[in-house]
Amino acid sequence: MKFGTRILAQADRLASFSEDEGRLTRTYLTPRHREAGEQIAVWMREAGMEAGFDALGNVVGRYAGDRPDAPAVATGSHMDTVVDAGRYDGIFGILTAIACVRDLHARGRRLPFAFEVVAFCDEEGVRFGVTLIGSRALAGRFEPSMLEARDRDGVTLRDALIAFGGDPDVIPSLQRKGLAAFVESHIEQGPVLLDEGLPVGVVTSIAGAGRARARVTGMAGHAGTVPMPGRRDALTAASEMALAVESLCGSRPQELVGTVGKFAVAGGGAVNVIPGSVEFTVDLRSGEDTVRRRAMADLESHLHEIARRRGVTLAWEPFFEMKAMPCDAGLQSALASSIAAHGVKVRHLPSGAGHDAMELAHIAPMAMLFVRCGAGGISHNPLETMTAEDAEIATSVLLHFLENFRP
Ligand code: GLV
Ligand code: MN
Ligand code: MN
Repeated sequence: MKFGTRILAQADRLASFSEDEGRLTRTYLTPRHREAGEQIAVWMREAGMEAGFDALGNVVGRYAGDRPDAPAVATGSHMDTVVDAGRYDGIFGILTAIACVRDLHARGRRLPFAFEVVAFCDEEGVRFGVTLIGSRALAGRFEPSMLEARDRDGVTLRDALIAFGGDPDVIPSLQRKGLAAFVESHIEQGPVLLDEGLPVGVVTSIAGAGRARARVTGMAGHAGTVPMPGRRDALTAASEMALAVESLCGSRPQELVGTVGKFAVAGGGAVNVIPGSVEFTVDLRSGEDTVRRRAMADLESHLHEIARRRGVTLAWEPFFEMKAMPCDAGLQSALASSIAAHGVKVRHLPSGAGHDAMELAHIAPMAMLFVRCGAGGISHNPLETMTAEDAEIATSVLLHFLENFRP
């Protein structure tokens, strides 16, 4: 096998750079981020690229084109992970591209464009609660206020970046101009390709997302003495609100998904205290921005109703919005031709997950190649899996695309 076995072995190696014992967690601007990035840069150089960290902690590799003034085409995905992650989310899109360059270089083949592979520093947003940091910077959409975001120890992104060796003042210059295309490969993170027996597919569009933080404030009190009627329990109120998110989206499963991913009693709670304050997050997604926005507004007023009825207050703070992003039609058909050239049925499918490609779509025609995800399509979970055979086909498809693409 030309690519697949090596890619899976490299993914195993990267999974060893984890800040948690016994599980994979790698967040932005940590020593493990540096080690993983350095390893990726070594592989990029071995493959024939110039490579190194940029001022924000992305690793950028460049394989020069067949002439100095050739335009650039970029690919890549993220090297950070969620907490207790699988090992292919993000990483596969970096490794498959390095494998393509390695093959081109071994054959002495240059392309009519410079090919850039980016290992984005933070797509998941685990540490600072700010997502798509690396790709936003390349798209020229990094907002200076993001530098003031704090991790749970109170460290600002700005201070962590400086300690990492990055430079906040250089971020505006990371904006890319004149990219001819951005094409990201990624595991599907769902069951569609698996259920249909297909190794790869072409993404049609990436769902949009809206996120909000909620703080429910009730009245803390003694668990043994406060009578049940009249309690203003923030936890039971917040629980009803979380169920409201589920029932709103569950009643429209074709259009909406919604998740309460964080949910905590302030201070951690105590066994003998009625919870006085609870915080939770809401993540709503849809392929249709108008559907998602209306649902978010309906949800907010419904949660306020619950708060009134239960005698608690609700502070609602939307903190993130990403519009749905269609993939470029021309690039989709180029990827489809490369899939068909491998004798594989062409399946188009939308992406429910967010990706760095959404940001790059603001500055370049964008497309995505999905690869089958095993174990029922599970992701954001250590059970996430893919096969060497699928990594092989996906890499060969990407290589075919690159060798036939004319900017
Ligand atoms: C990224 O994985 C996201 O879709 O939240
Ligand atoms: Mn992810
Ligand atoms: Mn991802």
